[in-house]
Amino acid sequence: MARRVLLVDDDATVLNSLAGALADIGLEVAAAESAETALGKLAEVAPDLVLSDIRMPGLDGIELLKLVRERAPSVDVVLMTAYDDMPTVVRAMREGAFDFLVKPINLDELEEVLGKALRDRRAREAARRAVEDEAEPYRLDELVGKDPQMIGVFKLVGQLAASRVNVLVRGASGTGKEMVARAIHFNSADADEPFVPVNCTALPETLLESELFGHVRGAFTGAVGDRRGRFALAGRGTIFLDEIGETSSEFQVKILRVLEDGEVHPVGGEKPEHTEARVIAATNRDLDSLVEEGRFREDLYYRLKVVEIVLPPLRERPTDIPLLARHLVRKASQRLHQTEPALPDSTVEALLEHDWPGNVRELENCLTRAIALSTGGVIRPEHLGLGRGAEQQAGVFRALDDVEAEHVRRVLFGVGGNKAKAARVLGISKPRLYRLLEKHGIE
Ligand SMILES: Nc1ncnc2c1ncn2[C@@H]1O[C@H](COP(=O)(O)OP(=O)(O)OP(=O)(O)O)[C@@H](O)[C@H]1O
Ligand SMILES: [Mg+2]
Repeated sequence: MARRVLLVDDDATVLNSLAGALADIGLEVAAAESAETALGKLAEVAPDLVLSDIRMPGLDGIELLKLVRERAPSVDVVLMTAYDDMPTVVRAMREGAFDFLVKPINLDELEEVLGKALRDRRAREAARRAVEDEAEPYRLDELVGKDPQMIGVFKLVGQLAASRVNVLVRGASGTGKEMVARAIHFNSADADEPFVPVNCTALPETLLESELFGHVRGAFTGAVGDRRGRFALAGRGTIFLDEIGETSSEFQVKILRVLEDGEVHPVGGEKPEHTEARVIAATNRDLDSLVEEGRFREDLYYRLKVVEIVLPPLRERPTDIPLLARHLVRKASQRLHQTEPALPDSTVEALLEHDWPGNVRELENCLTRAIALSTGGVIRPEHLGLGRGAEQQAGVFRALDDVEAEHVRRVLFGVGGNKAKAARVLGISKPRLYRLLEKHGIE
């Protein structure tokens, strides 16, 4: 990620040494020895940031700042000066300087300020893209949809990407909760930091805690050394807590503490550790009734609910079905290294008539299977296996077993025999894959 800085200083020695230091940290640098030269170069260089001295003959840094704000409002300006008198600092900040550095420049501090400015800029760009998406509302990266509710979701994703608040994502199974969480993370200023998905039901809770918060040596049998948890590993990234609705009240208290104080307690440890990770939690449960039944803590619920994204079930957004179907067929064909089959109107109609209890995930699995069953480069309604027109399907079903076996074989071969990968490509769990391998006698 090359980022460009326009550096301005009338002192040639300072100009050269700073230019060198900035290049060393991987930035592209254009240098100017006066504010006038800098303004002349502004359009051509198109910098992400202007770093300028204040006291210079001719136009000074603050006048340059004002002109840059006028001509290129999205460009951040950081000012530096040897004279840190209050009024100048105040004026600079009031005129919209991003930050103010005092000479001699401390390189660590400079790097930190530039890093922050460039990160903020990326987040602003993401937010702006999300809003501009209104004109072309069909996708936010991989998220597809044009239903008004989904456009609302995309906008929210863009806005939340530009902040670091914790988020609750709700929606029935397969509605795209994890995808939304990823979209928030990967459009944020901290996209380079890890996205760490954690399924809260995948482990017994004691293990889950040590997995998330880490443990100290001797915390329990088998804890032979200190171990860092996923919160620590996530840095300033995102922890995705999936299926938070299934957790116990004891566990919920601990999450509440993380959200309120930014602190995690390693299992068996005495000192809490600070965490900067953003938490995105998800659930397909109706938390309102879980709270009513006393099965979800009210305090955590209200804490999580502050920023909430609700994903509508697929049957409530019929305009998205053809759009998603085409997108998913393209994606699956690429993954299976097959030419993309056509989806005639009759097939789209059959898709629109189905209820989709498993939402987008079900649609994806249905189409992946249909691609394997399709003949002559066309997916016909009977390839969908959606229960309607069962008589038509009788013949298909007899052949289905063979096709299934053949498909599993092909996929397994395609991924070099890696079963975990094969299960992912097929959109099924590993145990399910093992059952299929056994059923068809595949080695
Ligand atoms: N709007 C969308 N655009 C494109 N693909 C989508 C969209 N929503 C969901 N998908 C796809 O559907 C599948 C299910 O999505 P995801 O895993 O995010 O759902 P989920 O809500 O987390 O499901 P579950 O509750 O089962 O965990 C994924 O393969 C995802 O890529
Ligand atoms: Mg999920």
